[in-house]
Amino acid sequence: MRTKLIAGNWKMNGSLADNEQLCKAILAGMNASQTAGVAVCAPAVYLSQLQNLLSGTAIALGSQDISSHEKGAFTGELSAAMLKEFGVRYAIVGHSERRQYHGETDTSVALKAKAALAAGITPIVCVGESLAERESGKTEEVVKRQLAAVIHENGHCISEIVVAYEPVWAIGTGKTATPEMAQAVHAVLRAQLHAASSVAAERVQILYGGSMNAANAASLLSMADIDGGLIGGAALKAADFLTIIAAAN
Ligand code: PGA
Repeated sequence: MRTKLIAGNWKMNGSLADNEQLCKAILAGMNASQTAGVAVCAPAVYLSQLQNLLSGTAIALGSQDISSHEKGAFTGELSAAMLKEFGVRYAIVGHSERRQYHGETDTSVALKAKAALAAGITPIVCVGESLAERESGKTEEVVKRQLAAVIHENGHCISEIVVAYEPVWAIGTGKTATPEMAQAVHAVLRAQLHAASSVAAERVQILYGGSMNAANAASLLSMADIDGGLIGGAALKAADFLTIIAAAN
């Protein structure tokens, strides 16, 4: 039985004061007997602050990106080893905003996942179709192509990743995939993992992301292949994030 994972993606939001308040409120509201894993993926400049605030707590720390390179002349990038020094346990890779605005490709995303895994950081690999792709019936083809690149590059290590299905048209728009729509895609991804490795199919948590919120989390999380959520907007409000965490238990 897979445990659920609720990961906040703060994107480019936060401040020293806001982060402290938000973390303290989430920690204060978390139930000691909860089974779901919880993580927050913060802007890199705040990782040191969050390492101090969260070490020894039930909230794991994540980054929003990671370099595929080990070190060297890559201005602006952060290596897996650097992130590791700040207590990073998860790294989002291939978020649609990075694919869209920073030219990330299936191959570069797969290499980022590889760099994370090599350092003992769990990559949260994002896949998802655009509205045009969904409307032209290409959803399966797109998510399978995106995941295939990661499987190809990572071989048997694939059982150590987390996958996040995030339909691009649902991100930040308030339009959520229905639980049935999301489950259908999650089942496709699970079958693809199964074809690569039966261990991976059993172990890998497949999160849903895209306007998951306090009101719709329980129904999404009740689906057989939805093992958690990658939460944007609702992760910035402690009460909403706590409701989602509670729905995962
Ligand atoms: P959203 O973002 O919950 O604000 O739609 C999710 C994400 O982009 O990870």
